[in-house]
Amino acid sequence: MEAFEAAFARAVGTRHCVAVASGTDALWLSLLAAGVGPGDEVVTVSHTCVPTAAAILQCGATPVLADVDPATMTMDPASAARAITRRTKALLPVHLYGLCSDLSALKALARAKGIPLIEDCAQAAGASFDGAPAGSHGLAGAFSFYPTKNLGALGDGGAVTTDDASFAARLRRLRFYGYEKAHESREAGHNSRLDELQAAFLSASLKRLPAWIRARRGIAELYRASFGGLLACPDDAPRRRHGYHLFVVRSPRRDALRIRLADKGIETAVHYPKPVHRQKGYAPVCRVGPSGLAVTERLAREILSLPLYPELRPAEVKRIVEAVRACA
Ligand SMILES: Cc1ncc(COP(=O)(O)O)c(C=O)c1O
Repeated sequence: MEAFEAAFARAVGTRHCVAVASGTDALWLSLLAAGVGPGDEVVTVSHTCVPTAAAILQCGATPVLADVDPATMTMDPASAARAITRRTKALLPVHLYGLCSDLSALKALARAKGIPLIEDCAQAAGASFDGAPAGSHGLAGAFSFYPTKNLGALGDGGAVTTDDASFAARLRRLRFYGYEKAHESREAGHNSRLDELQAAFLSASLKRLPAWIRARRGIAELYRASFGGLLACPDDAPRRRHGYHLFVVRSPRRDALRIRLADKGIETAVHYPKPVHRQKGYAPVCRVGPSGLAVTERLAREILSLPLYPELRPAEVKRIVEAVRACA
């Protein structure tokens, strides 16, 4: 596990990496180590997978939901700023689909408010902002190695990256019964270890991550070049190097397009059809920020994830492109 931690810290460009049992645990333990607890609030987005909110709730804190920027589909810094109150203890943007949130504005916001920035990098292994990898911009970056992710294990896994030595030491305690040394618990902790088999598999896969990201970006470029004017494609500027965990287009006629593509044998998906604040299990325990969630609501109706994985062959990409052009 230590060898993987060292290699992943090097890949992300941070001094420390603490491997844990899942991406949800990476978020939860980062928040705990940052001192988030009952009665506190954490500002995040509703346009995400529910574990982002679940991790906040697991600390006893309340997720406060900011809206997203329509072009990047990630946290809108102005909306996040309005959602911050005296109780806010952390800012938790999500680099959804593999595209970094506006980290320069969000870092400035966190600094101005005196709160830590914790990046949800579950989908963003291999992405970067201003030349620095996702997970190296705030107090902590929380990664998931669930098998479908850009860097996937054979089962569950996660990691936290950080430059802060005392934060890393606290994370190490929290993930392992609060132990400071063998059989000495300094504080009440948990059990969230990455098992050695997953770590060994991840160490081998990490070497291939740059090639996988290049393959993902190549497929994304083919899509983008083919859909100009037809569909709204993901934002990808040199400043924010997309990791293309997913290639998500937008169409006001999304549902009809999805059915027509399915008829042609092209499987698509929607990430995510119901934002967190529309989920029965989460709506009562989250709070919507003062600027509302109009963009989030619209995106949930328009987004469509096209097939994208490194092994997709050029002929298959061509077939998908032709089908989309015929159906859109
Ligand atoms: C944005 C986001 N955050 C957190 C997680 C949680 O990761 P895991 O499934 O490894 O617990 C996921 C994974 O699905 C995710 O997509």
